[in-house]
Amino acid sequence: MKKIVVLGANGQLGKTIKNLDEFDGVEFHFFSRVDLDITDKNKLATILANAGFDYCINCAAYTNVENAEENTEEAFKINAEGARNIAEVCNTNGIKLIHISTDYVFDGKNKEPYTVNDITNPINEYGKSKLQGELYIKEELDHYYIIRTSWLYSLYGKNFLKTVIGKIENDEVLNITTEEEGTPTSCIDLSEFILHIIKEDTLPYGIYHFSANGSTTWYGFAKEIVRNFKPEKLDNIKPIEKFKTRAKRPNYSVLDLNKTEEFYKELLSWEENLRFVFKSYKNK
Ligand SMILES: NC(=O)c1ccc[n+]([C@@H]2O[C@H](COP(=O)([O-])OP(=O)(O)OC[C@H]3O[C@@H](n4cnc5c(N)ncnc54)[C@H](OP(=O)(O)O)[C@@H]3O)[C@@H](O)[C@H]2O)c1
Repeated sequence: MKKIVVLGANGQLGKTIKNLDEFDGVEFHFFSRVDLDITDKNKLATILANAGFDYCINCAAYTNVENAEENTEEAFKINAEGARNIAEVCNTNGIKLIHISTDYVFDGKNKEPYTVNDITNPINEYGKSKLQGELYIKEELDHYYIIRTSWLYSLYGKNFLKTVIGKIENDEVLNITTEEEGTPTSCIDLSEFILHIIKEDTLPYGIYHFSANGSTTWYGFAKEIVRNFKPEKLDNIKPIEKFKTRAKRPNYSVLDLNKTEEFYKELLSWEENLRFVFKSYKNK
């Protein structure tokens, strides 16, 4: 039986892991921010010491990309220093770390999917803080998996899928940008990959990219959500070229999945994954 500690358990990814129904061979221990703040290194050290954890999954992060432009110190405290705390404590206690990072470590100037070896160059404070977190982990720890993912969505918390559903329920018209290209990633899909790493227990340490296959724009994603949810409202989604935001966003952040596909054969298209999430939504 592998013993796993999950940090940031009340976020959308943490909640998705909690709701997985495949728990054979793994015993999860969930800690929300209230139970364990990752900026409190002493508490982290106390809880993780001598508890026999095999893996730590870090789902905790400062994820508000817009606010990170102003609350930069807070974003770095959580995404960089917090990640360093976790790495140090994992190192001391022989725990393997699975840490989630982001496509926003790239500047978006590529014309083809970013590989794990491509040069990072974040263009907003959130991306910079997440990259610093990656660098600290690499410095502190050998036994780590850093999984960069993109455009996460689920039925929990605040995310693009839920925003679009809420507004369509109110029959609002939505102007959505066609400027950025990326890949929507279902938290269920990412959670299954994380579980795969743990169960296999043999994947080489290092950085992995994880998303569904294919790519789209936020406009394309919104259209596909409405097509699954209420196709009669498709005309409520209107394309606009630019959506004004405080934080700069990479124009192109599609992740190359070749390395991941060497070890994991389950990747579907983002459209198929979205259909799967809607199936569970309708069965609720
Ligand atoms: N969302 C995306 O589109 C996206 C895309 C790429 C990568 N990622 C990465 O994927 C991971 C999971 O993201 P998510 O979408 O699940 O984020 P989320 O829903 O915002 O969840 C993050 C969780 O971290 C908790 N947290 C914040 N500060 C903490 C601290 N100091 N100590 C302990 N917990 C803390 C938050 O608690 P409170 O709610 O109480 O603040 C929240 O429950 C993150 O590393 C994120 O950077 C996300």
